[in-house]
Amino acid sequence: MTTFHSLTVAKVEPETRDAVTITFTVPQALQSAYAFRPGQHLTLKARLAGEELRRCYSICRRAVPGEISVAVKAIDGGRFSGYARAQIKAGMTIDVMVPQGNFGYQPQPERTGSYLAIAAGSGITPMLAIMESTLQTEPHSQFTLIYGNRSSQTMMFRQALADLKDRWPARLQLVCLFSQESLDSELLHGRIDGEKLRALGKTLIAFDQFDEAFICGPAAMMDDAETTLLSLGMPGKAIHLERFNTPGGSARRAANVHAQGQTVVIRQDGRDRHITLSADDESILDAALRQGADLPYACKGGVCATCKCKVLRGEVSMATNYSLEPDELAAGYVLSCQALPVTPDVIVDFDAKGMA
Ligand code: FES
Repeated sequence: MTTFHSLTVAKVEPETRDAVTITFTVPQALQSAYAFRPGQHLTLKARLAGEELRRCYSICRRAVPGEISVAVKAIDGGRFSGYARAQIKAGMTIDVMVPQGNFGYQPQPERTGSYLAIAAGSGITPMLAIMESTLQTEPHSQFTLIYGNRSSQTMMFRQALADLKDRWPARLQLVCLFSQESLDSELLHGRIDGEKLRALGKTLIAFDQFDEAFICGPAAMMDDAETTLLSLGMPGKAIHLERFNTPGGSARRAANVHAQGQTVVIRQDGRDRHITLSADDESILDAALRQGADLPYACKGGVCATCKCKVLRGEVSMATNYSLEPDELAAGYVLSCQALPVTPDVIVDFDAKGMA
């Protein structure tokens, strides 16, 4: 079974005009199910105008017994995010999947590290949980955040970031950039891109100090930041990317794969089920859902990894992959929302979550 639970909304707090933090109460019996690695996300489910919608939102606070919080920013035309921002209120119950996602970092008390987060807009959300957890758990570690926004008015978590800085003034470096606000410092004016990062590297930030880097925001910013960090000598393995969800995104057919009529065995909860692909199925996930399987998924765009499964036999082809790491691919994990069978003997296992 896909693991959704009905959680009660404990509170809804405004962050900006467009964004709210939603905190759910986690009952004692579910606390281990909702344990998370900072950087992971929750998938919320709701039926709007007769259609079931699922969306992923990053967990935005460190682990606190009995509650878990996500931030939701309403986007233009976003049906779920508009609903979440305007209509979810304290006391309601919402279907919430247990935490998922590969992005993030599990702080280790004995480790001393130097970490970099680069975020733009609502890309700050997972960073807040990662930074707070790391600074709290690793007493000698340092964190630098480069955070880009249009203006201070659209900046999410202004107060939360100020609180973190107050708590750990010597271990947290905050560098905030604004693209549409005039500032005394030209260095802090503008978007985050390769040129800006290099300029920061000449004056404010020693990029060679970092052990790990976390990047989240619009795709162009992320690509630019990753390329720049690689060119500055940071190993690719130390750079972790969290791509934004693509609301309403759907699977794209894997190139040159014609799977119509093929049968795939889906293993879930220890049971095998045979599903047959039709010409309209864009993925194994599509075919399985159409035939009544209750599989985990959220974005259907190759981003969130909620639909991850392991290929036990046969071969599949994925249209796209924004979330699985090379070691997961090597171990046989695939995104079922992007995968189609290319051999007739495919078995995929949804119980295998060993590398989550
Ligand atoms: S459902 Fe998000 S990657 Fe497949």
